[in-house]
Amino acid sequence: MCILCRMGAHSMKTQVAIIGGGPSGLLLSQLLHVRGIDSVVLERKTKDYVLGRIRAGVLERGMLDLMREAGVADRMEKEGHAHDGTLISYGDEMFRVDFTEHTGHAVMVYGQTEVTRDLYEAREAAGGAIEFNVEDVVINDADSDAPFVSYTVVGQARRIDCDFVAGCDGFHGVSRNTIPDDVRREYEKVYPFGWLGILSETPPVNPELIYANSDRGFALCSMRNENLSRYYIQCSLSDSPNDWSDTAFWNELKRRIPTDQADKLVTGPSIEKSIAPLRSFVTEPMRWGRLFLCGDAAHIVPPTGAKGLNTAASDVHYLYNGLRDFYENNSTAGIDSYSQKALARVWKAERFSWWFSSLLHRYPDQTTFDHRIQVAELEFLRASKAAQKAMAENYVGLPY
Ligand code: FAD
Ligand code: DHB
Repeated sequence: MCILCRMGAHSMKTQVAIIGGGPSGLLLSQLLHVRGIDSVVLERKTKDYVLGRIRAGVLERGMLDLMREAGVADRMEKEGHAHDGTLISYGDEMFRVDFTEHTGHAVMVYGQTEVTRDLYEAREAAGGAIEFNVEDVVINDADSDAPFVSYTVVGQARRIDCDFVAGCDGFHGVSRNTIPDDVRREYEKVYPFGWLGILSETPPVNPELIYANSDRGFALCSMRNENLSRYYIQCSLSDSPNDWSDTAFWNELKRRIPTDQADKLVTGPSIEKSIAPLRSFVTEPMRWGRLFLCGDAAHIVPPTGAKGLNTAASDVHYLYNGLRDFYENNSTAGIDSYSQKALARVWKAERFSWWFSSLLHRYPDQTTFDHRIQVAELEFLRASKAAQKAMAENYVGLPY
């Protein structure tokens, strides 16, 4: 039986109705809970489905601090791996950018699946209200002082009255389109390729990530732990995961990374294989009345540089602090500046992800001139401490 039914209600009231039980929605809900602010999370899928999605793997310092503030960092501190730098290769050349040397900060390798699992456990332990399998979610009267969310669960109509609605329902959710067309502006760039990713129970080829530019296209060697590797190769948008046998994947990956790395790559059966298209996308504004968009509901980055989840976390930071300001200090200053503050940081993450993608991929219309410019930029990054510092500053995450 659902939580609301157990409470004997098909209609209820909360302070913040959160649409979407992905990392943004759960993190916001948990942070608000720590401050005594009540929320209800509505998720379209089941918990197992959400936890089955293999996505981001690298957490910025700001996200680590938010996990600590939310009281959900114990397992991350124990099982996550701090990375002080990353490797970038082109052909057989490879160099390292040292994050700690240039910024004083590292990043943490800890999967989105684990972040989400920790957040679900914390919400459940605290008796937090999460409704799964919700359908037909509609955000009503967001431009009034009395918004409410209507939805159905197994065909039964439900309603939540609230002070605010947080739209944390990802790129395909309903929140963004609740903002009227004449208010909403959208900016988009679609890339002419995708990433084919696999997860395999094999030791990572290298203790640090390798971002590889090769004549055959981009590749990334990443990991989750000592015996769980995550690898990606740039692929055609018309490919399907079934087109790629494990052997074909490993052979292609080996051809895209430096020979000495390929020689020590341990291969094995894939336990997950999927293709993600690459897109840059921003919606403005991120607030309409009492509705606030957070994370993928408002913006998408190409995955190069691991900014998707981390940018969702910075939105949560601004919104959480704005809501605290409202409930604790009776001030609307934080929520009034939410959209402008969040977007200022979003656009910088968009720029970095676009730049890092441009540096490393093969584009179908790329000329020999374009290719030489890419190599020149890689060699500049290799040689210039200033360029490395700029890259490291963005990779570990710009300050909130
Ligand atoms: P989501 O994770 O999308 O969560 C939104 C939630 O809302 C979902 O659980 C969804 O089921 C739910 N929902 C949707 N519609 C409704 C509705 N109408 N009602 C109720 N609930 C709803 N980032 C990286 O940094 N590195 C990566 O390698 C990487 N790989 C990715 C691969 C894929 C295939 C995708 C799609 C994204 C990837 N990302 C990656 C991006 C990163 O995973 C996202 O930025 C992050 O998940 C954003 O979190 P979110 O909570 O805002 O959105
Ligand atoms: C991972 C994904 C990324 O997009 C990235 O830049 C780094 C790591 C990963 O899934 O491990």
